Amino acid sequence: MRVTIGELKEMKQRGERIPMLTAYDYSTAKLVDEAGVPLILVGDSLGMVVLGYESTIPVTMDEMIHHTKAVVRGTERALVVGDMPFMTYHTSVDDALRNAARFIQEGGSQAVKLEGGETVAEKVKRIVECGIPVQGHIGLTPQSVHQLGGFKVVGKTPEVAVRLLNDAKALEQAGAFSIVLEAVPAPLSKLITERVSVPTIGIGAGPDCDGQVQVVSDLLGLFTDFVPKHAKQYAKLADIIKTSVSDYVSEVQAGSFPTAKQSYTMDEKIIDELARSA
Ligand code: KIV
Repeated sequence: MRVTIGELKEMKQRGERIPMLTAYDYSTAKLVDEAGVPLILVGDSLGMVVLGYESTIPVTMDEMIHHTKAVVRGTERALVVGDMPFMTYHTSVDDALRNAARFIQEGGSQAVKLEGGETVAEKVKRIVECGIPVQGHIGLTPQSVHQLGGFKVVGKTPEVAVRLLNDAKALEQAGAFSIVLEAVPAPLSKLITERVSVPTIGIGAGPDCDGQVQVVSDLLGLFTDFVPKHAKQYAKLADIIKTSVSDYVSEVQAGSFPTAKQSYTMDEKIIDELARSA
């Protein structure tokens, strides 16, 4: 049985912290699920860390559905959230519903996430009314990077802090089951977390959120273009991969790989006969 949105709310009520992690492919999702992560996000960050785009803006619905299917196939227990890409929920309520439904019907995810607060609350409400759980995302919303003027902390001034608190309440009111707070000052995240009944999940939002989310490629040290301030590398897989691959290159060049252990045998009479006759 997969984790439910009701269980996540109970975790908040019990004060039990919620670990969330992104995954983009079958093998990684399987490991993340087996390691006990209850909430997996197929983030549109895949545009940057898997597909090599400069931002999340070029990511399409088809790309998201492709990766969501792989993650769902790799998981048994985690609740999988599909991240709605740029401009797939902005144009109209109908578009938002249609694209949210694609995540559930084609992708197989159990929920969707979208960026924005009060301005998207009506869409959140309508998607939830159709039976699709929605996770909100406020603070630094990477799909609005050009509007925000870069990837930077959001909520330091009184005006923006009030707006974020109102955004969180609007999302809660609209029926969001959880809210991601990205790059929000820690004291403001604490206040928002205290003021809403649904779990807040922080990324660069301090220790007082109900849960934390990280990009799996940052956590494992796989993405080497830059390390965001909010990320902690629990491993340096890039180094392990590079060393392993260069060992492989050296062994192939030296003729020491493959050995008999990685080779298949056959009846020698057959090969002798073939060599004589051909
Ligand atoms: O796309 C993503 O990975 C995200 C997280 C950073 C929350 O939206």
